[in-house]
Amino acid sequence: MARAERGPNGPARRAESGIGMSGTAAVGFDPLAEGFAASPYEQYEQLRDHDPVHRSELLQGWVVTRFEDVGRLLRDTSVSSDIHHATPNPLTIMELELLTEQPRASRTVVLMDDPDHARIRSLMAEPFRPREIEQLRERVTTRIDRAIDRLREQHGGGRAEIDLVGEFAYPLPVEIFSEMLGMPEEDSPRFRYWAQCVARMVDPIMSTAEREECTRGLDDMYAYLEEQVDRKRAHPNDDLLSALVHAEIDGERLSHEDLLAQLVTLYLAGHEPTASLIGAGTLALIREPDQLAHLRQDRDLLRNALSELLRFDGPNHFVRRITTRPTVVGNTDLPGGAVIYASPASANRDPRRWGDDADHVRVDRSDASQHLQFGAGVHACLGSHLARLQAEIAFTAILDRLAHLELAGTPDWGNRMFIRGLTALPIACSIRDRVA
Ligand code: HEM
Repeated sequence: MARAERGPNGPARRAESGIGMSGTAAVGFDPLAEGFAASPYEQYEQLRDHDPVHRSELLQGWVVTRFEDVGRLLRDTSVSSDIHHATPNPLTIMELELLTEQPRASRTVVLMDDPDHARIRSLMAEPFRPREIEQLRERVTTRIDRAIDRLREQHGGGRAEIDLVGEFAYPLPVEIFSEMLGMPEEDSPRFRYWAQCVARMVDPIMSTAEREECTRGLDDMYAYLEEQVDRKRAHPNDDLLSALVHAEIDGERLSHEDLLAQLVTLYLAGHEPTASLIGAGTLALIREPDQLAHLRQDRDLLRNALSELLRFDGPNHFVRRITTRPTVVGNTDLPGGAVIYASPASANRDPRRWGDDADHVRVDRSDASQHLQFGAGVHACLGSHLARLQAEIAFTAILDRLAHLELAGTPDWGNRMFIRGLTALPIACSIRDRVA
């Protein structure tokens, strides 16, 4: 994907002061600013209020932040996910060059338009349907219980300080997904590293050194997956990878190249955001103790609370779209070929949609499930049921077994802009034994 360069000691270019084409007020969008990673919401608020369709010179595109505009864009079938439709600029040219070097990357469903997108998506959809995902409940519960058992063994049953992200939330989704796929258990740590590389590659802003490291990681990941695919072709069994290798609709199958591209996509799509939901959701509850108490008292609220935690601080900060013809967004006329960065995270805090308490967690918010964290339209998240299942079981374990939760240090938000997530969450708690 396209990238602006970040110098080794900080941003090589400052973001614009930003005069919006649509508005009178001048506000900036500066994802490289101090504090942005820890809290981008102040900048989003400024943009929503003063320049909701903001021209960003840094990103060479338009940053869209209001709920109504983001929702409409995601559902607009005339806008494309394919960068080839963009009017050339230095960033899109760089991205197209990278895609030429890594042609597989452009075969991901995420960057395709219909009808190719619909064909590939339907070939991979079946294992992600609610009924199929529900069948994983017991396996996921066992894995999560074991993860908390391990924490208790390491830290004891008294007051303990743990990094909830590093020691629990981050390893979990990749282990669960590798088990679903039928990957050898001992290779999970390699996948964790590779998934990080892929997540970083999605960001438009990264240094040359980071890009080279991530590209090497991605090459290794492809080589490894290729071996596994060959293995499943020769010896299929009842795991997800065998199902994808042999998936067939009307005589059509995923080609070898398409399959590899979707596997990398699934690791990326499935890992980082799910880990982020568990980490950021726990942090949000610690910071709003009355809401944590409310949820502990009324566990029937859990599913709704998960929607609310996704709304409040979900991982997806931007999805990119390209106009294929002149398009009006909000009150702004955009030409065909315009690159748009639509922000589900900002939309989910828009008081025009959510009211004056948009910046607070309300575990019983009645319309929380209307959030845009899983996207909308034809590209809406394929793995939302899997993500919800994992999060439901993980939060059940946190509520049942991590008592007296408190923050024990400063949360570390890393430096990703598109899929934002905690890289460390130091907490203090008492780790209980399993509930009988
Ligand atoms: C909390 C966790 C998750 C969040 C917030 C999330 C969010 C999203 C969003 C916003 C999109 C739309 C991207 C776009 O419109 O360009 C998306 C697409 C996708 N997600 Fe998720 N996701 C999550 C977990 C998962 C999981 C667990 C999987 C599967 C293992 C998954 C698989 C996918 C796939 C394959 C797509 C592409 C769909 C398409 O382009 O048609 N996601 N996700």
